[in-house]
Amino acid sequence: MITFDDFKELIRSNRSYRRFDESRKIPKDVLESLVNLTRYCASGRNLQPLRYKIVCTEEGCNRIFPALKWAGYYQDWDGPEEGERPVAYLVQCLDTELTTNCLCDDGLQLEAITLGASSLGIHGTIIKAFNGEEVRTACDLPERYKPLYVLSLGYPAETVLMEDTDGSTDADIRYHRDNEGHHIVPKRPLNELIIC
Ligand SMILES: Cc1cc2nc3c(=O)[nH]c(=O)nc-3n(C[C@H](O)[C@H](O)[C@H](O)COP(=O)(O)O)c2cc1C
Repeated sequence: MITFDDFKELIRSNRSYRRFDESRKIPKDVLESLVNLTRYCASGRNLQPLRYKIVCTEEGCNRIFPALKWAGYYQDWDGPEEGERPVAYLVQCLDTELTTNCLCDDGLQLEAITLGASSLGIHGTIIKAFNGEEVRTACDLPERYKPLYVLSLGYPAETVLMEDTDGSTDADIRYHRDNEGHHIVPKRPLNELIIC
């Protein structure tokens, strides 16, 4: 059993990364083992309606990349350049023949996958801003599978740091880059999260 402190460190390390060492590939069996983690997640009605398309070939990655939108707060950045792009994607899909509503299964499974990946030094970004039809075409997805999220993955080639906000409700929570190009993510402090 891992300790609470180990778990806290794992979840602290589980940040969104958007620039990668594209020369370091992720073997398909590692990606399958990340998908396997979702089997242990809680599931509303225990329906388990989510499916994953694994994209890990260079051609597959090149096809899906243009459908994705990166870092909305970075107005002057269109996403990672060639050489620092993700080397794999997991496209989380809803099997619409089972249900039209997965409740919160999607988020639970994304957290399980990203925590598992972090434990292996693999990181990425959960992406919701994408063109569903472009993703469907890029991945040859049959009609019954509705893409919900795209998880980009790779070995990071950037530094991501967290900082506390000033604790006010209207604090600036937008991530930004510092002078050294580090990606800084503001997080609200604990006393703001607990309702008195
Ligand atoms: C539901 C959800 C949707 C997201 N969609 C996008 C997205 O479309 N593009 C993107 O670059 N990042 C996306 N992100 C990543 C967030 O920007 C990121 O989680 C946030 O900036 C906090 O950084 P952290 O993950 O390191 O805590 C998404 C995250 C979540 C949880």
